[in-house]
Amino acid sequence: MLSTKDYVISKLISSDDYISGESLSLDLGISRAAINTAVKSLRQDGYDIESVTNRGYRLNNHPDLLTKGEVLAHLSEERMSTITVLSEVDSTNKLLKEMAYNGAPEGSVVVSDCQTAGRGRLGRSFSSPKSKGIYLSYLLRPTTSPEIISKITCWAAVAVKNAINRVCNISPSIKWVNDLLINDKKICGILTELTIESEIGSINSVVIGIGINVNHDTSDFPEEIRDIASSIRKEMNQDKLINRAQLTATLIDELDKLCNSFPNANNEYLKQYKEACSTVGLEVSVVSAHTHESEKPRLGTAIGIGDDFSLQVMFEDGHTENLSSGEVSVRRR
Ligand code: BTN
Repeated sequence: MLSTKDYVISKLISSDDYISGESLSLDLGISRAAINTAVKSLRQDGYDIESVTNRGYRLNNHPDLLTKGEVLAHLSEERMSTITVLSEVDSTNKLLKEMAYNGAPEGSVVVSDCQTAGRGRLGRSFSSPKSKGIYLSYLLRPTTSPEIISKITCWAAVAVKNAINRVCNISPSIKWVNDLLINDKKICGILTELTIESEIGSINSVVIGIGINVNHDTSDFPEEIRDIASSIRKEMNQDKLINRAQLTATLIDELDKLCNSFPNANNEYLKQYKEACSTVGLEVSVVSAHTHESEKPRLGTAIGIGDDFSLQVMFEDGHTENLSSGEVSVRRR
């Protein structure tokens, strides 16, 4: 449900000029008094809203808040009806999986300003501090077989890359299989989880979970990942905060494109994936998802991306293998 505050702030963000209280009131079908109350409350949230007699309200500056009203400024009201924006949740993937179980439609989105138990791949946690990143899950209900799951994750990496490029004017590379990097530092991770209909073995739902480090400073990351993780803002070397709501809306737009073209546009996504993948050409160390810690990783060189998004690796003894994401993870050596 959208509140008066959500409507008012979305209108103010979308307008460069003054908007009169009267036109806001008519446009939104809300009383002038309710508009005044919303403006007061928005000012308390940190919005710098100027008001001039006979001209109306104008937004001069706004804090980087990830709220429904902020996202509404960039998407239609109809699209917002299946988007849940939260200030805190344990895991957006966990919540969206529950919503999917209860019948949420394809295209449903959960996005949160922070996560208290963000989940990463291979059972790891995903650091999700407040007011810094975008933690978003998107629901698909594809009617194809479960093998396509790794393909969806690679398509999602392309969608995130394109969204970041559209908003920040920088194009991250993709580390096979689905980490996004800028200057070789991880700025985004993707965790795709699927639910299978046990009786017939077909897919019930696919939840694509995306965590983007947007405005983090070094101190926002746990010490153990400070060498490998970074944020878009940090790698762009800029003080100004990146507008997370705009990036969220653009990401949803790219994921809607993905959803509407899956699996038909495979050639286009594969082409873009190959162009962006920075793992090819590197010496890699391959670790099986089921390998015991004491077992040695296998060493090789990544030589290409297969048409099924697998990573082609030539091992030190000269033989090659096409690795699929479920089986292995690769590290640069
Ligand atoms: C990884 O790099 O290991 C994948 C990280 C995926 C994190 C995202 S944040 C939104 C969604 N909710 C979660 O609990 N995890 C994913």
